[in-house]
Amino acid sequence: MKKAPHGLHTVHGWVLEAERIAVLSGAGMSAESGVPTFRDAQDGYWAQFNPQDMASERGFRAAPQRVWDWYAHRRAGVAQVQPNAGHVALARFARAHPGRLTVITQNVDGLHQRAGSSGVLCLHGDLLADRWLEAPRACCRLEDAEPGSPPRCGSCGNLVRPGVVWFGENLPVDVFEAARQAAQGADLMLVVGTAGAVYPAAGLARLARQAGARVVVVNPVASELDDVAHGVLRGTAAQLLPQLLEPGAGRPDQETP
Ligand code: APR
Repeated sequence: MKKAPHGLHTVHGWVLEAERIAVLSGAGMSAESGVPTFRDAQDGYWAQFNPQDMASERGFRAAPQRVWDWYAHRRAGVAQVQPNAGHVALARFARAHPGRLTVITQNVDGLHQRAGSSGVLCLHGDLLADRWLEAPRACCRLEDAEPGSPPRCGSCGNLVRPGVVWFGENLPVDVFEAARQAAQGADLMLVVGTAGAVYPAAGLARLARQAGARVVVVNPVASELDDVAHGVLRGTAAQLLPQLLEPGAGRPDQETP
């Protein structure tokens, strides 16, 4: 077997020691499943689109069909992909060690849940969920929405929008509070596949560090949270998480001399 990258063995030791582990995941977590990231310079969504056009209420109101169709395209894409070895390693670890690992994700793709993780704290909502643009009246029932792009209430015209958190919107209060508690209560936080550029999500890594957790970044390239981390592992989620979390992983006797 190939020699483990520098630091992997140490971080594996931190995993074994930690009573509570929080994972903060971002788009890179799902990259190896085939879901595009946002800020990749070539393939990222924000290399093709202006985030204010596609991921803000103002953008939706200005061009509801364009935005709805883009989310419909993303929904269809996510339906065609599978969780990767990184998602699976997290779910297996949580099952094997009940109560020790909490997944906090910025991802809206549902892949952590499809891999078998439960209690996932979805900071930015759910790509597959619908909700009303305006506060719904009695006539607004999602199941009765008139099909369209976007669907709308046949009585009052209220538009259906995707159930994700857009720029300028608040995160779901209860989910963020649970994530804050998980970050503050963790002995170890793994920050996986996020550029660390979007707050308040990225602030959870800083909070975990301030509260005494060891923080480890898993990312093939530099991120804005590297400065917060006690350890930075340069590699991908699907490569490194199984090595960190699976039984016997990272032991020195697996490395070649
Ligand atoms: N494994 C681990 N990390 C990876 C991988 C991989 N296979 N591939 C790419 N990455 C890293 C990239 O290097 C980058 O640092 O994942 C990160 C992805 O960053 P972004 O595209 O900015 O995604 P994210 O940090 O999740 O964005 C946060 O921004 O647009 C909003 O709401 C959207 O939730 C999203 C938020």
